[in-house]
Amino acid sequence: MFNRHCILFLRNNTKNKFMSSIIKDYTNESKKDIPIVKGLPVVGTIFSILLAGGGRKLHEYIDKRHQQYGSVFREKLGPLDAVWISDPLDMKLLFAQEGKYPQHMLPEAWLLYNDTYGQQRGLYFMDGKEWWKYRQILNKIMLKDFNINLIKSYNTVTNDLFTEWENYNGQVIPNLIADLYKLSISFMVAHLVGRAYDECKMHVSNDVNCLAQSIQKVFQCTVKFTVIPAKTAKLLKLNIWNDFVCAVDSSIDSASNLVSKLLSYSGGDGLLNSISNTHDIPIDMIKRLIVDFIIAAGDTTAYSTQWALYTLGLEKSTQNNLRKCLLDTDFLECDLLNNILKEVLRMYPLAPFIVRISPNDVYLKNHIIPANNLIIMSMFTSCRNRKYFQCPNEFKPDRWNRQLNNKYYGVIEPFATLPYGFGTRSCIGQKMANTQMCFTIAECIKRYEIKTINPVKIVLDLITVPDSCVNIKIHKVK
Ligand code: HEM
Repeated sequence: MFNRHCILFLRNNTKNKFMSSIIKDYTNESKKDIPIVKGLPVVGTIFSILLAGGGRKLHEYIDKRHQQYGSVFREKLGPLDAVWISDPLDMKLLFAQEGKYPQHMLPEAWLLYNDTYGQQRGLYFMDGKEWWKYRQILNKIMLKDFNINLIKSYNTVTNDLFTEWENYNGQVIPNLIADLYKLSISFMVAHLVGRAYDECKMHVSNDVNCLAQSIQKVFQCTVKFTVIPAKTAKLLKLNIWNDFVCAVDSSIDSASNLVSKLLSYSGGDGLLNSISNTHDIPIDMIKRLIVDFIIAAGDTTAYSTQWALYTLGLEKSTQNNLRKCLLDTDFLECDLLNNILKEVLRMYPLAPFIVRISPNDVYLKNHIIPANNLIIMSMFTSCRNRKYFQCPNEFKPDRWNRQLNNKYYGVIEPFATLPYGFGTRSCIGQKMANTQMCFTIAECIKRYEIKTINPVKIVLDLITVPDSCVNIKIHKVK
């Protein structure tokens, strides 16, 4: 059920043969110039994106650019000067050449905050040898030896949520996304402390609530820096900088308080125990890593779960089929559930763009991207392209069933969807997130029929979110 490409990659951690053969085929081909979107000096095409709706509509704006300029083009969007690519073969070529310490791009505002306030952060913010040192340790604990027994502690988390939802039987859930934020942070806590979750949850419930509120604000504030560089906003003491600082302060403070309390439960059978007792990691570093896991988990799992419930709420027959399958199949073994989640993450890729900066020239199919350029993979565009998925705008979980020749029914190029990224820098929480989301969907559909009341569209708060509140009505299954 996990991202097969990533598992394949991790298993062969000497540079993948499959990848090397791809590079060989394309380094010798003749190359063309990269098409450039013309803009003004310094600001580039910033006014075009402003006219198109700003950073919240960046996915649609870039999708149109790909239609005009093809799968590779260069555009300077205000502070962001990048080569944008949308062909899965070019993405494979890029990953194949990303090197031992792949470099991604962090939002400028986040880096400026860390610099200004001397804040040291976790894995996502690390690079080079330091990143690889901790990444290797965490790969083993969180991906290779993922502890499936921790699912026992997830039970309490979903039971608490669904006990609260009993009050809304026959009604719309009043604040779905807030509930899902609390759920995803609670899952993370349960994963960290394992069996001790029952004992610890009362002790930390206030911290979980504070954190759930502040994380969302960080993402909402960050997207505003698409059109004004964070440095300028800071220099001019603009409200967007002040609001951003408040939101980050509050999320880091709440997460740090939470982790300090959780450390007293590190003797349990959870992730904290694996990290602190099996490896010689200083306590400050453990705190940095865990604080960032909690922050990373909050938004991502909450919104992806919401997209899954939203989609299922529009699909009564898929819900009924899933409920039937779950009567006699464990959620971990349920192909339909697995396909539903894959399809949700394809239609609503939480990370609509994945970024790499390569220290060397990168050879694509028809182009060479010079070293140290920002390269942005347009995942929203590739996920919704009919060249790679039949009827790409339709929710069709069965497209992920395999035919006799082992190919998928309705998927022409599976590499066009990479919900957790790819390679050694891919999401460290992917197994945890997939298991938690499958568990939540399964438990919800076993208990409730769900109905989505209003359609929503995708906008970006850095990640893929709905443009208005998702309203879902629940009815207890008899
Ligand atoms: C549905 C849930 C999630 C989605 C869709 C998601 C997606 C992603 C993506 C696309 C990346 C960048 C990958 C790349 O550049 O190749 C990433 C990185 C990361 N994710 Fe997740 N993520 C999810 C949940 C989580 C959770 C639960 C955690 C908590 C452990 C987490 C922690 C991280 C970290 C620490 C990184 C940076 C890894 C590194 O730089 O080595 N994510 N995630």
